[in-house]
Amino acid sequence: MRYAVTGAAGFIGSHLAEALTSRGDEVVGLDCFTDYYDPALKEENARGLDVRRVDLAEDELDFAGLDGVFHLAGQPGVRSFGDVFSLYLRRNVLASQRVFEAAARDGVRVVFASSSSTYGAAERYPTPEDTTPQPLSPYGITKLACEQLAAAYVREFALDCVTLRYFNAFGPRQRPDMAFTRIVLALGAGTRFDLYGDGEQSRGWTYVSDVVDATILAMGGGSGTYNVGGAIEASMNDVIARLETISGRRLDVSREPAVPGDQRRTSADTSRIRAELGWEPRISLEDGLRRQWEWASTRVAAQ
Ligand SMILES: NC(=O)c1ccc[n+]([C@@H]2O[C@H](COP(=O)([O-])OP(=O)(O)OC[C@H]3O[C@@H](n4cnc5c(N)ncnc54)[C@H](O)[C@@H]3O)[C@@H](O)[C@H]2O)c1
Repeated sequence: MRYAVTGAAGFIGSHLAEALTSRGDEVVGLDCFTDYYDPALKEENARGLDVRRVDLAEDELDFAGLDGVFHLAGQPGVRSFGDVFSLYLRRNVLASQRVFEAAARDGVRVVFASSSSTYGAAERYPTPEDTTPQPLSPYGITKLACEQLAAAYVREFALDCVTLRYFNAFGPRQRPDMAFTRIVLALGAGTRFDLYGDGEQSRGWTYVSDVVDATILAMGGGSGTYNVGGAIEASMNDVIARLETISGRRLDVSREPAVPGDQRRTSADTSRIRAELGWEPRISLEDGLRRQWEWASTRVAAQ
């Protein structure tokens, strides 16, 4: 099969592109290497992959002849109030609208990577897909706008599209703005870690290979929206304690005010994806943290 993976130089997109390639699929990666974090890390992620420099928000898109588009490109991060909002509009809303438009025209199925941030302060935990979305951050609002655009293209132009709401992914190559990467690099280098909020905020952490498995399964079947979340919910304080045990080191924590737009809790109800696509998260939080620590400590040692 021949697929496009947008955001293929990013954290999850590069793992997905590798997984598809290693099972024998042909992958065309599309990424414009934004400077949200060091593009050199994206160059590293993209090594060995066919990643073309395409800005989805303005370049011509041609998906004809492909068997599907995995649309993972976007502007992540909840620090999305203020002047940066225009980047969220461009890289999430405009870029996705152009992907959906081209995919509908070319008759190609899309798997779209949305986010648990669309739930915001959810009414129920674990949160099922039909919960009323109440995003707290402009980021979550743009991802919800993308979901609504996808639904409109499905209704009005028969776009074949499935939406996945990823719950905090972690593992090797996790983005440098995300907490686990900042923790493991601080533990490795003996530097300070800034903890935002009281550390009791909790997440349905999901190991990256489980996210990739769900994403590939969704290209093969299903419709509508599915949560993709790990089986274990844990607080930041719990994760820090686990990583201190795994590394045998103490983390130097600086407590900082909570970030506006950050959710207190995310927890996925995954009944739907389990029943309809047969997906199960396979990597435990403990094993995933061990792998991420090994990855980070090797990197720190090599520097
Ligand atoms: N990492 C998570 O825990 C998580 C959770 C929920 C949802 N998501 C979603 O999953 C997707 C991947 O997240 P990630 O953590 O791998 O992020 P990432 O920033 O590592 O990857 C996104 C990639 O998209 C590219 N990109 C951005 N705008 C583009 C444009 N206009 N044209 C082409 N490429 C563009 C970036 O250069 C980057 O390489 C994102 O859509 C994100 O919103 C991630």
